Amino acid sequence: MPTAQEMLAAFDRYAVGHADMDHTHREFLLLCIETLQAQGPAFAEQFVRLFEHTRAHFAEEEARMQASAFPALLEHRADHQRTLGDMDRFAQRAAAGRGSMARAWLSESLPQWFALHARTMDSALAAHLTRT
Ligand SMILES: [Fe+2]
Repeated sequence: MPTAQEMLAAFDRYAVGHADMDHTHREFLLLCIETLQAQGPAFAEQFVRLFEHTRAHFAEEEARMQASAFPALLEHRADHQRTLGDMDRFAQRAAAGRGSMARAWLSESLPQWFALHARTMDSALAAHLTRT
């Protein structure tokens, strides 16, 4: 499974072909890497920055889906919500000084989720947006 670092290095493979979405996805991967590199209390702070960026990133996609009557909006939004729910729980654990689970999730589960999400749901949205 790719790490966020590997995904950023091979970004073209994860690019969805929509300039704004791809720009946001690069920022997201960079923040994942910066968060993993943060040590001590900086980890929880950086995790919150990643959480806020991700919330805005998903809200922006959902606004685009709504504005363009994207047929898979509900399914796509549900996938975002599951990830935000996980991120919220791990942010709280990290803030309470229990960052090891958050770190494992961030280095393994989140990149795995994003690789699949970008190639399926986000690519479908990007194709829809370029058609409408
Ligand atoms: Fe998405």
